Amino acid sequence: MTTDSELAHFAQEARGRAWAPYSNFRVGAAVLTQDGRVFTGCNVENASYGLTVCAERNAVAAAVVAGARRFSVLAVSSENGVAPCGACRQVLFEFGGELRVLLCADDGALRETSLAALLPQPFGPSSLPSGQH
Ligand code: THU
Repeated sequence: MTTDSELAHFAQEARGRAWAPYSNFRVGAAVLTQDGRVFTGCNVENASYGLTVCAERNAVAAAVVAGARRFSVLAVSSENGVAPCGACRQVLFEFGGELRVLLCADDGALRETSLAALLPQPFGPSSLPSGQH
């Protein structure tokens, strides 16, 4: 089973492949699925700035394309240990509100939070009237 520190390491490794020439802020993410698989993502920026995709959303997309949609832990690696942006919190919530989130910084700090703490009063699939999802 993948440990928290191993997952943090996968996120850091993914961060090494970030494409962030505009912000120079590199982020890596690694998501652990309930069946023990790990998928990673990094931020991918674009000269048309608004097309940038965050590390977390790229990790979720990699998991979904492999058929994995049940996540237990997400590790995010950045220089200063930032938490996922609002858009990523919403995308993560699509696949379940019970998610441990590990915020990993270069000084070795590994801060634990949860999607429930990061996204209170969420809007998600069950918010839609039945028949619309
Ligand atoms: N970024 C992420 O990849 N994840 C976050 O949680 C915060 C922001 C990226 C987007 C952009 O490429 C750069 O960091 C600066 O905002």
